[in-house]
Amino acid sequence: MVIKGNLLSEIERLKKERNAIILAHNYQIDQVQDLADFVGDSFKLSQQAAATDAELIVFCGVIFMAESAKILSPDKTVLLPEKMADCPMANMVDVPSLKEMKKRYPEAAVVAYVNSPAAVKAESDICCTSSNARQVVESLPQEQIIFLPDQNLGQYVASQTTKELIIWEGYCSTHARVRPEEVKKAKAAHPQAPLLIHPECTPEVLALADYIGSTAGILDYARESKASTFLIGTEMGIIHRLQKENPDKRFYLLSPGLICPNMKKTTLEKVYLSLKELITEIELPAEIREKAYRAMSRMLQIS
Ligand code: 13P
Ligand code: SF4
Repeated sequence: MVIKGNLLSEIERLKKERNAIILAHNYQIDQVQDLADFVGDSFKLSQQAAATDAELIVFCGVIFMAESAKILSPDKTVLLPEKMADCPMANMVDVPSLKEMKKRYPEAAVVAYVNSPAAVKAESDICCTSSNARQVVESLPQEQIIFLPDQNLGQYVASQTTKELIIWEGYCSTHARVRPEEVKKAKAAHPQAPLLIHPECTPEVLALADYIGSTAGILDYARESKASTFLIGTEMGIIHRLQKENPDKRFYLLSPGLICPNMKKTTLEKVYLSLKELITEIELPAEIREKAYRAMSRMLQIS
């Protein structure tokens, strides 16, 4: 085993040797974010995966994100350093239940939040992320939309459009556990601080926000704002980047419960092993990959 001090240089060496790029989500642990070539939200990471010249993509995130990279870059090798890093919300939707729903609403278009399995994307008309969900819904000719799997993002989009949304009942247990009482307490402690929240939080919590957006949107807002203190309503990993990009500003996490255990499973050691032994490679059946590609690329085209 490589001793800790050498891990970073070994990762760099292997990265060059294998012509690899390391992509990391904004919720990854600090050390993984710091070694990545690009850190971003689901949308920007998808764009990076689609555009890279690298032969190998090491995806530090959760399964649906690495699958999305494979869908968009089918000729590349995509590795997920921790194969058990999954998104429980993504697994709240499956193909048989979606097919049943489609039978009940034959006129409806299906919009799949990227936090969904590849096989579900393959059964959908278009994908969306938290940064473009409304834009995606509005871009469709259909008036009726099946929106899956996140009910909170779905309700947030429904509040901003005249389209009829049939909303799946999935949720993110990390974001959905934030309670309005916690928000009120945090606001009382930091009355000047704008509250920046991810749309996976409940409508009661979103109603108290000053800004609602994806993790990239939250980072942009904090960078551009003149405020000096902020309350952050999304997973704790984002605080590292917020603080790094804005050393003179202060960021307070809305609730100590804002931690996604799956996003914390990827470590430097696992990134090293992933590059060294090519583990764990994402593989998707061609039929699913090709159909899911249509839904993913349609999203990239309109965003
Ligand atoms: P973003 O696309 O906003 O980064 O969110 C991804 C996610 O998993 C939120 O919980
Ligand atoms: Fe999934 Fe929630 Fe974790 Fe995001 S924070 S990856 S939605 S469980």
